[in-house]
Amino acid sequence: MPTTAQRLLRSTMLSPVWLASVLTGAKSFVDNPLLGSRRLNQAGLHAGRVRLAHALARQRRQRLQSLVAAADRETFEQQGFVVRQQALPATEFALLRQEILGQAFPSREMLQGDAVTRRIAVNPAFLERAPVTRAFLQGPLWNGLCHYVGSYRQTPMAYVQTILSHVPGHRDADPQLQLHADTFHPTVKAWLFLEDVAEEDGPFCYVPGSHRLTPRRLAWEQARSEQVDQLDRLSSRGSLRASAEALEEMGLPAPIRMAVPANTLVVADTFGFHARGPASRPSRRVELWGYGRRNPFLPWSGFDLGSLPWIAPRRIDSYWRYLSFCEQRLHRQVAWRDVGLQFAGAHSSSFG
Ligand SMILES: [Fe+2]
Repeated sequence: MPTTAQRLLRSTMLSPVWLASVLTGAKSFVDNPLLGSRRLNQAGLHAGRVRLAHALARQRRQRLQSLVAAADRETFEQQGFVVRQQALPATEFALLRQEILGQAFPSREMLQGDAVTRRIAVNPAFLERAPVTRAFLQGPLWNGLCHYVGSYRQTPMAYVQTILSHVPGHRDADPQLQLHADTFHPTVKAWLFLEDVAEEDGPFCYVPGSHRLTPRRLAWEQARSEQVDQLDRLSSRGSLRASAEALEEMGLPAPIRMAVPANTLVVADTFGFHARGPASRPSRRVELWGYGRRNPFLPWSGFDLGSLPWIAPRRIDSYWRYLSFCEQRLHRQVAWRDVGLQFAGAHSSSFG
């Protein structure tokens, strides 16, 4: 238990960091006493960050308009996501599937509730063995939509992702089933589904129009930020959960479930409320998945060092090397367990 003097010393040393992170994407109310301060949030700190981040994203998106078709822009403004069926020509998609599903790659797995997420890093070694996937990830459809929706010319981090639901031996509820916003500012996630996703398989759910910062959404954000001590664990870390009553309070409709055929691309702003739909049977979803996140307070949309061609595909390697260091040298348990070479489509996991 730290003494009062230790606590004082810690807060004196960390204060500049806490203050500086107000103008970053830092989102946890509990890890930064400024962001979680009831008094500062009553005075409008959280709501102010939300408003400023959205205003800047709107300006950046305007400058990126030429990257997407007018019809996609209109759909996005209304819904908060774009769905493109038959994203690749059928023959190319068959090749992409074959190169992703037909080879084993270094993988990591994580358990959340009764669901396992397996990820394969899209890194230089992967891209070497998957040229059709590489062409798609470097092409205008994936990048145009990800840049526009994410409001930055930023190469998304990409993985092959497998979700296994109702994994035997695990009974806790999967926290991703609750509708939530990933963070307080516009941000992008993208899925290219490699197999059909049936209603029973837990399709991606999204509340149409919930990406817009309406006065009612802002009031809801303000109210949550003043009650940090009453929030659940993930909400208090900055991914606010929204109940059915909250959606009604904000004038939002019920979520739609994206049961879609293979070869469908979905690109969404995950400031909008979304969730993994509940699966009514043990199931598996395999997708090419990417996300982009950057300091939301930058006025410019480019100049991202991490997107340089030599760096972009190596970012995940650096992160995974750090995880290995924690596991092997520091003997710390990490959420993303190294499971060696795996096929993306494998039905069983290291968790069961
Ligand atoms: Fe999410």
